[in-house]
Amino acid sequence: ALRASFASKAQTQDRTIHYNLQPQASFRVAVLGAAGGIGQPLALLIKMSPLVSDLHLYDIANVKGVAADISHCNTPSQVRDFTGAAELANCLKGVDVVVIPAGVPRKPGMTRDDLFNINAGIVRDLVSAVADNCPGAFIHIISNPVNSTVPIAAEVLKQKGVYDPKKLFGVTTLDVVRANTFVAQRKNLKLIDVDVPVVGGHAGITILPLLSKTKPSASFTGEEIEELTVRIQNAGTEVVEAKAGAGSATLSMAYAAARFVESSLRALDGDGDVYECSFVQSDLTELPFFASRVKLGRKGVEALIPSDLQGLTEYEQKALEALKPELKASIEKGIAFAQKQT
Ligand code: NAD
Ligand code: LMR
Repeated sequence: ALRASFASKAQTQDRTIHYNLQPQASFRVAVLGAAGGIGQPLALLIKMSPLVSDLHLYDIANVKGVAADISHCNTPSQVRDFTGAAELANCLKGVDVVVIPAGVPRKPGMTRDDLFNINAGIVRDLVSAVADNCPGAFIHIISNPVNSTVPIAAEVLKQKGVYDPKKLFGVTTLDVVRANTFVAQRKNLKLIDVDVPVVGGHAGITILPLLSKTKPSASFTGEEIEELTVRIQNAGTEVVEAKAGAGSATLSMAYAAARFVESSLRALDGDGDVYECSFVQSDLTELPFFASRVKLGRKGVEALIPSDLQGLTEYEQKALEALKPELKASIEKGIAFAQKQT
């Protein structure tokens, strides 16, 4: 859980305010696309982290006000704003974790792949700057279509000679957050305890919740499995339709991305017990990238967790085979785009 650090001491008896403004660790985090629907609440949540000493907010416009606003929260990190390509290098120098929610969101009737033409170039250019300025950083890609933007990022890093597959992550935490919420509601479980691994990718049927691996173990009827799987796969579209043209998930996404940032920082800080699902380079299947649970460590992905893919139910096994052609095509589309540029 996100360890928020905004507990107020203003209610103590002597009315003295004893804020401890020293960060517990000194990690630097950059958010690229920080003035957007995800970027703003995400920046706020990262500002709450006691593990962050410096928070760098970058966008092509409107980031000055966001940074000024967030900087007034009396939590440890120093907030700085960076606007436009000329300030990107300074934003990135010395940064430990770069989070990228830059790009356009869906409108009703669109697939995530419909965003490819605009977002592919944005991710390519931002990751190229990451390669030049903070090649050792963890890179969290949120921009859609994640199934293609992560392979694009990998190719750009390879072209720059700095690709470390252990440090490149497609953020699929929102799929896990949704699965946990929907399963807890459906099975009347205590939300805090529920953990459902979600594997595959981050679009439509490539999102595969492994309900049989739910912890604590729960039993589902065939009807419940079908209903929950489809709801988790379509949850992004559920939000896009409810927002009716005003964008896609931003607040739940910011929550999920903040959880993934916090997990990464805990791993960087030496916590040996950090596990998250993420879309990463993988040899768990024949596909070069695949979302699964991973163990995070100081150097990034310390281990993939193969046991989640063992002993699948017939429903899950079928769904896994069915998602592979679409996921493969999206990965190849990303790679081809990045290779065409050179
Ligand atoms: P938004 O339009 O509200 O914000 C995007 C921000 O990116 C804007 O502030 C814009 O100025 C900025 N931007 C555009 N080009 C840029 C560039 N070259 N450099 C830096 N910043 C740039 O969109 P949003 O709702 O925040 O969504 C952002 C992206 O995240 C979309 O692609 C969306 O599909 C994706 N998304 C992914 C997930 C996931 O689970 N991975 C969930 C929700 C949304
Ligand atoms: C989501 O899952 O909410 C995001 O990928 C945004 C979208 O387009 O659905």
